[in-house]
Amino acid sequence: MNQVDYLRISLIDRCNFRCQYCMPEGAELNYILQQQLLTYEELLTLIEEVFIPVGFTRFRLTGGEPLLRPRVVELVGAIASLPQTQDLSMTTNGFLLAPLAQDLYNAGLRRINISLDSLNPETFDKIIGNRGRSRWEQVWLGIQAAYQVGFNPLKLNVVVIPGVNDREVLDLAALSIDREWHVRFIEFMPIGNSDLFGDRGWIASQELRQQIRSRWGLTESQVCGNGPADVFKIPGAKGTLGFISQMSECFCDRCNRMRLSADGWLRPCLLNETGEIDLKTALRNGVNLAQLRERVRELLMIKPEINFKQRNSGTTGVYTRTMSQIGG
Ligand code: GTP
Ligand code: 5AD
Ligand code: SF4
Repeated sequence: MNQVDYLRISLIDRCNFRCQYCMPEGAELNYILQQQLLTYEELLTLIEEVFIPVGFTRFRLTGGEPLLRPRVVELVGAIASLPQTQDLSMTTNGFLLAPLAQDLYNAGLRRINISLDSLNPETFDKIIGNRGRSRWEQVWLGIQAAYQVGFNPLKLNVVVIPGVNDREVLDLAALSIDREWHVRFIEFMPIGNSDLFGDRGWIASQELRQQIRSRWGLTESQVCGNGPADVFKIPGAKGTLGFISQMSECFCDRCNRMRLSADGWLRPCLLNETGEIDLKTALRNGVNLAQLRERVRELLMIKPEINFKQRNSGTTGVYTRTMSQIGG
C-alpha cells in the first residue's frame, strides 16, 4: 500500500482568474462564506495536532488562488518551521507573485508551481477570462521573479485544450531548454467546465510526447515532486518536461495524497467524494484532537477502496465541488 503523506491544502476557494477549464465566467459560484473558512489558527492546529501525528509530512498550498489568502506569507513561515515538514510547496496562477516571491522564499517556501497555459498574451487572456489590460506580462514577471529568487524546482503547469493552446506545445516545451524550468502538460479533465470539454475533449500525453520527440528527441528523467507527473527531458535541456495523464492513464494505484478544502473538509480522492470528513465542524464542536486523529486514520485505512479507478476509461467521477473548491 502506498504511504499517504502528502496533503494538498486549499487556502481559499476564490480566484482572481476565471480560467475556462476551471471557473468560467457566468458559471454559478457558491463561494465559501468567510466564517466557514478554516481560520489561520484552526489550520495550524489541524496540521500540527492531526495531520503530522498521523503521518503527513509534505504539504502543498493551493486555492482557488492561494496568494489571495490573508497572512499567506506568515502561514508559509509557520508550516515551514515545523520540524516534521519535509516538503512545502505552492500552486499559484502567478498574478500576485512578483512582489511576494522573495517574502515567500524567506518564509521557507522552496518549490512553486505556476500555471502558464499560453505564451501568447491574447490566447492567455482568453483562457483566463480576462477582458481588460493583458495579465500575461504580470504572470511572466511573477515567473521571472520566482526564478531569480531561487525557487527550485520551478514548475510551469499547462492544461492542454484542443483548439485553444495545443499549437503551442513545442513553444512551451522549449522553455525547458535554456532555463531550469520544468514544464508540465496536463490532460484537460471534465471538471469545472464540462461544456468546454464536451466540444473539444482532451489530448493524450502520448501524442504530445510524440510531437516533442520528433522535434528534439526525448529521454526519461526525474525532478523532485510528489505528484503524478511522468518526467522526461529534451536531450541537453536544463529543465524537464512532465506529463500529467489523468485521462489516458490511471495513476490511482500510486496515489499518495489527500486534500483539505478551505472550509475544512478532508477528501481522500480528487474524483470521488466518498468518505469526506468535515474536520472544521468537528473542531468547532469541541471534538477532541485524539478523536480527530482517529477519524483521519480510519479514512487513511479505507482510502485504497475510495480511490477512483476508472480514470483510463476517459471519464471522471461524481463530484459536487469544482476544481477551485477542491484545490486542484
Ligand atoms: P509536485 O509535487 O510538484 O509533483 O506537484 P503536483 O503535480 O502534485 O501539483 P500541482 O498542483 O502542480 O498539480 C498539477 C495538476 O495535476 C493538478 O492541478 C491536477 O490537474 C493534477 N493532479 C494533481 N494531483 C492529482 C490527483 O490526485 N488526481 C488527479 N486526477 N489529478 C491530479
Ligand atoms: N483539468 C485539468 N487541470 C485543471 N486544473 C484546473 N482545472 C483543471 C481541469 N479541468 C489545474 C491546472 C491549474 C491548477 C490550479 O489546476 O493545472 O494549473
Ligand atoms: Fe483560478 Fe487556478 Fe481555477 Fe484558473 S485554474 S480559475 S487560476 S483556481
